[in-house]
Amino acid sequence: MNALILLGGLGSRLRPLTLSRPKPLLPILNRPLISYQIDLLKKFGVKKVVLALGHKASHFRRHLGNGKSWGVHFIYSFEKEPLGTGGAIRHALPHLKGSAIVLNGDVLSDFNLGRMAALHRRKNADATLALVEVVDPSAFGLVETTKTGRIQRFLEKPSGDSFPIRTVNAGCYLFEPRVVERIPAGKNVSIEREIFPALLSEGFRVESFLHRGYWSDIGTLKTYWRTHQEMHEQKQWPSGVRRRGGLLFFPGAHVDGSVRVFGTAVVGAGTRIDRSVTLEGKNTIGENVRISEGSHIQDTVILDGARIGPRTRVERSIVGVEASVGADCRVGPDQVLADGAQLPAFSQIVSSLSE
Ligand code: GDD
Ligand code: MG
Repeated sequence: MNALILLGGLGSRLRPLTLSRPKPLLPILNRPLISYQIDLLKKFGVKKVVLALGHKASHFRRHLGNGKSWGVHFIYSFEKEPLGTGGAIRHALPHLKGSAIVLNGDVLSDFNLGRMAALHRRKNADATLALVEVVDPSAFGLVETTKTGRIQRFLEKPSGDSFPIRTVNAGCYLFEPRVVERIPAGKNVSIEREIFPALLSEGFRVESFLHRGYWSDIGTLKTYWRTHQEMHEQKQWPSGVRRRGGLLFFPGAHVDGSVRVFGTAVVGAGTRIDRSVTLEGKNTIGENVRISEGSHIQDTVILDGARIGPRTRVERSIVGVEASVGADCRVGPDQVLADGAQLPAFSQIVSSLSE
């Protein structure tokens, strides 16, 4: 089966992290988000993946190449102007032969694509959408089904504050070619706002597959941070890490013997953690990071090349690529330092000033 990943969004809610790279290339536990989707598709036997993109396309080409090193073949479907989720899929039609899996490029999940495809065939569906139950559906596409799971109504991010439905579009679809052909060509079209409602009113058979496993839409800084915490909770360690107690380190990481780990810490290659550092809770530390003596890091994501000075405390925060935090600083809770940010010694970026 063919697959397509939607990668053309601007990722504006993830600024400043997405100023220097597109959202699907942001690291999750030190691996680009898109690599989890590629693994999922490979597990299902997909060999050819269409990358539907436009915004920051050169970043994808540089990082992903033709897919050889990822064990798949990538086809780039480039949009000069953003075509929207539907327009992007329609634009890739020449590369999609037969049924196609479509994934939103910012969803991290362990969808069972095999079971979803079996349901799609058993129901003889034109389209099947993976659904997931969430506590707050307001930021998603709400989906109403019959008892047997056939989709009856699709409501993208309705306004108002009472939502009778908790099942939402999980951003994973299976489409027959007639569905892709139904999307008007060459214009900006939203699959959620325009095409799904049209398919329903035109009598297409649109079925649902309820996903009960892990699911996260990494659309905001909060969800980016929270997804890291959840990956630690679920012990979803990236391949290639070695383990010593709560320390999960890649070859080439130097962690001083006196470093105390209360919880779990993923530490990337080339990173150096000095004497008497405390790593508390669930920390993810990228590659070539330096954490100096006596610092205390708690529930934080530190991206590649960042520097944390001595005796500094960072809590529940995100530290951008090559950001530099001086000595004796306090950062957090809930702070985000942009890539390359520089904090002089004794800075306090905190939600309330210390006494
Ligand atoms: N190629 C291309 N071109 N991709 C696009 C474009 C475009 O013009 N616009 C958006 N995308 C991609 C984004 O990069 C992302 O991977 C995906 O389409 C969905 O866009 P988001 O901006 O992340 O949408 P959302 O999270 O607000 O809502 C969508 O996802 C939810 C589940 O995560 C909708 O599909 C909702 O219905 C759904 O519940
Ligand atoms: Mg999204």
